[in-house]
Amino acid sequence: MAITDISHRQKFLADGNAYLPHIAVIEKIIDETPDTRTFHFNFKDEKLRREFTFASGQFGEYSVFGVGEATFCISSSPTRPDHLEFCVKRVGSVTNALHRLGEGAEIGFRGPFGNSFPLDYLKGRNLVFVAGGIGLAPLRSLIWNAIDNRQDYGKIDIIYGARSAADLCFKYDLDAWEKDATVNMTTTIDRQDKAWSGRVGFVPAVLEQVGPSAAGAAAIVCGPPVMIRFTFPVLEKLGFSPEQMITTLEKRMKCGIGKCGRCNIGDIYVCRDGPVFSFAQIKGFISGEY
Ligand SMILES: Cc1cc2nc3c(=O)[nH]c(=O)nc-3n(C[C@H](O)[C@H](O)[C@H](O)COP(=O)(O)OP(=O)(O)OC[C@H]3O[C@@H](n4cnc5c(N)ncnc54)[C@H](O)[C@@H]3O)c2cc1C
Ligand code: FES
Repeated sequence: MAITDISHRQKFLADGNAYLPHIAVIEKIIDETPDTRTFHFNFKDEKLRREFTFASGQFGEYSVFGVGEATFCISSSPTRPDHLEFCVKRVGSVTNALHRLGEGAEIGFRGPFGNSFPLDYLKGRNLVFVAGGIGLAPLRSLIWNAIDNRQDYGKIDIIYGARSAADLCFKYDLDAWEKDATVNMTTTIDRQDKAWSGRVGFVPAVLEQVGPSAAGAAAIVCGPPVMIRFTFPVLEKLGFSPEQMITTLEKRMKCGIGKCGRCNIGDIYVCRDGPVFSFAQIKGFISGEY
């Protein structure tokens, strides 16, 4: 399988300059967990707002003026183009600065960058989404995309977990998928919690209990490295081949367009050749990552 859909890459350069951000306005902020927020935004430029397109799996370089720039996936679906969304976990200087912004604030955006989830490969298959914590952010773009084109896909399984009930992101989506009769939603938390009456267990173990069939399926996985490390062997046990397992890599980035050399693993530039890869493409060189 080739994961090479780059049709949405670098089409929207400000003044033809890949390093110049577009100005965007934050329209809405949602508190997901104590340290994670979702931002809804739109471009200031009317024409760009109308014409901007992207594909599920792509990312942007977002800037807080006077502070710096950081990489976040576009967490909304291109099937819902009314606004764009990204979700930010507070870990350092740019993410803390973003969390200090209010609705109406202006930010910079460069993108969309990177490849995307291989829709041509996924169409007609059963989809098994496996996510942990904020790792649901890139997957939710594809999940909503698949739900909005439901006729193109077979069964949809979602296995999502977080450390505690308070750490579950996108609770409004989890509720919607729970209620959707065409989706088999399983939510879990790592350890028993007074605020939780649902399933308890680590994501890879719960995936094994749910046991989705590999026949005609593809698994799309994103989460903390430890979750991914234990998830791939479970998928292999369930019969998934390395080509059927897809993930999106996080590697520190700067330019986002394959120029600065910040994100490379061997001769692969995660910003340019990824961030979406099949396990078959990366298993030789990610042993140190996962
Ligand atoms: C394709 C992609 C998509 C992503 N999507 C999201 C997303 O949707 N949501 C989200 O919250 N995050 C996402 N990230 C991660 C996000 O880009 C980082 O957390 C970002 O660095 C935070 O910026 P900061 O300025 O707040 O943190 P920084 O101040 O840069 O520090 C962040 C953390 O990284 C450590 N660090 C600092 N320098 C280095 C270094 N050179 N190498 C390794 N670690 C270092 C720091 O100690 C700190 O723990 C994504 C990353 C990639 C590559
Ligand atoms: S971030 Fe500059 S080459 Fe990938």
